[in-house]
This record gives sequence, structure tokens and C-alpha cells, in this order.
Amino acid sequence: MLIRVGIVGVGNCASALVQGIEMYKRNPEIEPAVAFKDIGGYTPRDIVFASAFEIDARKVGLDLAEAIFQPPNNATEVYKPPKLGVVVRPGPVLDGVPAGGLVPKVVEGTVEDVVKELNSTNTHVLVNYLPTGAQKAAEAYAEAALRAGVAFVNAMPASIATSGYWQRRFQERGVPLLGDDTQNQIGATVFHKTIIRLLALRGVKIRDTYQINVGGTPDFVNLMYRKGDKEKTKTAAVKMMAEGQEFDAYISPVAYIHFLGDRKIAHTLVEAEIFGGLTIRIEATLDVHDAWNSAAVVTDSVRLAKLAMDRGIGGPLISASAWGFKNPPVHMSPEDAYKAVLEFIEGKRDR
Ligand SMILES: NC(=O)c1ccc[n+]([C@@H]2O[C@H](COP(=O)([O-])OP(=O)(O)OC[C@H]3O[C@@H](n4cnc5c(N)ncnc54)[C@H](O)[C@@H]3O)[C@@H](O)[C@H]2O)c1
Repeated sequence: MLIRVGIVGVGNCASALVQGIEMYKRNPEIEPAVAFKDIGGYTPRDIVFASAFEIDARKVGLDLAEAIFQPPNNATEVYKPPKLGVVVRPGPVLDGVPAGGLVPKVVEGTVEDVVKELNSTNTHVLVNYLPTGAQKAAEAYAEAALRAGVAFVNAMPASIATSGYWQRRFQERGVPLLGDDTQNQIGATVFHKTIIRLLALRGVKIRDTYQINVGGTPDFVNLMYRKGDKEKTKTAAVKMMAEGQEFDAYISPVAYIHFLGDRKIAHTLVEAEIFGGLTIRIEATLDVHDAWNSAAVVTDSVRLAKLAMDRGIGGPLISASAWGFKNPPVHMSPEDAYKAVLEFIEGKRDR
């Protein structure tokens, strides 16, 4: 069985996901680098792209395989897929337009257009890659997914999976909801969380910590104007790993540096206190291809969403969201979330 995936926002993350899935499909000898090879019978090669939505006039109307390489996208090109037969359609704009003049000409559609497209393309799971700050636009697409009975994976920081209102609506409609804000395969957040968790488990007192990120993607241009949500989801994720400890945390995307291209560099510092009040200091730097770093987790998430649909489970998926997202309805350490997802896949827990 195939999983028919729709995409909202054909930017860098969409580019990495489409390139990667299509590359693995046409090269069966390459093992996909994902945490879960098989999720209820679904492998990454069972994902097909069914629909796509944009507002940038340079992308709307093109085949998805061509739209992913239009400016301002600058995700590294690893694989050029053939045309996929998926035409990028316009969607509701609202607060979606990224800041910093990234989209010079906007094309607009309605929620009703999105519902019709989701229905006519038989989309099963809709992945939301809107720019940070687009809360109203994210809600418009969540509404469209609900009306069409399509699972919703909220890959960006808008509050959808963590909102009581949306949790209730997806629950009532019997449609799975995952989010919020993808936690990259080996991104700054999961890396930082793991360090803090280890220190907390070893009885170390955390004094303060920072994580400052710089990057050269359009996402970083937008974040320079609208980073509030991102700072919130990242800080909450890290602080939750040392429950009961009070410490200062400064976590922020601090600069767009054009020559970094699709790279993001995260500098992390932790200052803490061990037995006897002595100080330890940990400094780490992570240098990644940002959009590519989100694709594995989304590949897992759409398969977990489809498995829930097959089982008739609607509403927020607790284990899958804790594994794949920075700001899930319930926070878990990376190893607890991994175990919970395995239990979900094996049918030992229902969400
Ligand atoms: N590793 C990562 O890059 C990563 C990790 C976690 C979360 N995220 C989040 O995922 C989101 C997408 O990241 P990206 O790097 O692909 O960003 P991007 O800026 O490259 O892509 C966003 C796309 O959405 C389009 N868009 C804007 N408003 C729209 C609307 N109303 N309807 C349809 N399309 C619209 C833009 O034109 C653009 O093509 C961001 O919010 C980012 O913070 C990214």
C-alpha cells in the first residue's frame, strides 16, 4: 500500500524530502537513513507525492519536481527527480508570506480549493512546511485537512498539535495529528536535549546554557523577522530535559549569513556544577545541511500518521509527536520517545 502525501510550502524542507524519497525509490540498493525502516509495513519507498500548495508565483503551476528547485530555495541538490505529475496549486495566504522580501509575487487560493485538491488527489497525509510565524495560514491548512479527512503533520512551530482546540477537532473527526515543529534527525535541539538530559540524570546542577544558530537558508531570512515561535519551541524542548531544575537558557537563531547556503551551524554552551560545587563547561558545534536534516523524521512521521489512520486512531499522536517534534503535546527524552514509538508500531499503545 502507498501513502499519498501532500505538501504545504514547497521550500527547502519539501525539496529535501521529495529529492530523498524519489532517490531512494529509484535506487533500491541504497538503504534509507531513517530510524524506523518499516512502520506497520510501510517503508520510505511507499511514500508518493499526491498534492502540493504554494503562494510563490515562481512555484505555483509547476510540477513539484521542478518547483523544488526554484528560487529562493537553496537546499543542496542531491537528486533531480523526473516530473511527478503533481502540479503545485495556490493556497490561502493569510500570515504565510515569509518576511524579508522572499516572495516577490504572491498567488492566492482558498481553503475550499485546498479541500477539493486533497479530495481529488486522494491525499492521505498533509505535511505543513509553512514559514515560522504563519499561525493563521497553518490553521487554514489544518482546517482543510480536517474537512478532507486527511492526517496533518505540523512540521513548523505554529501551535496546532499542542492546541486543545485542534486536538479536540482532530479527535472528533477521527483524523491523526502530529507536531509541532520537526525535531531534526541530528539537529541542535535533540543534541542539546541529550546533553542536558545526561547531566540531569547524573545529578549535575545546570547553571545556564545557550544555543545560538546561524544559517544561510530562506528560513533564516524569515526567522530574522519572526523568530518568537521558534525560540519558544526550542527553549521549552531543552528545559524539559532537566525537570525540577531552575536555570537560564538562551536559545535563538541569531543571524542569516548568505554564504552559508543551506548550512546551519549551531553553537552550544552548557555551564554546570558537579559534586563539591566545581564547574564544568561543555561547548559543542554542529554543522548541518538544515533542510536535509528534517527529512528523515518527516519520512517517519507520515508513515506513523498513515498507520494510525489504518487503525482508525484520530487526534494527537503522543508517541510519534514526542519522537519527531520539538514541541509535542507530551515531552519525552529521546530514548523514552523512541521506545514509545516502537510500542505504538507494535500495537502495544494506541497513540
Ligand atoms: N531542518 C529544518 O529546516 C527545519 C526543522 C524544523 C522545522 N522547520 C520549519 O519548517 C518550515 C519550513 O522550512 P523551510 O526551510 O522549508 O522554509 P522555506 O522558507 O524554504 O519554505 C517555506 C515555503 O512556504 C511557502 N509559503 C509561504 N506561505 C504560504 C502559504 N500561505 N501557503 C503555501 N505556501 C506558503 C513559501 O513560499 C516557501 O516556499 C519553517 O517554519 C521551519 O522553521 C525546518
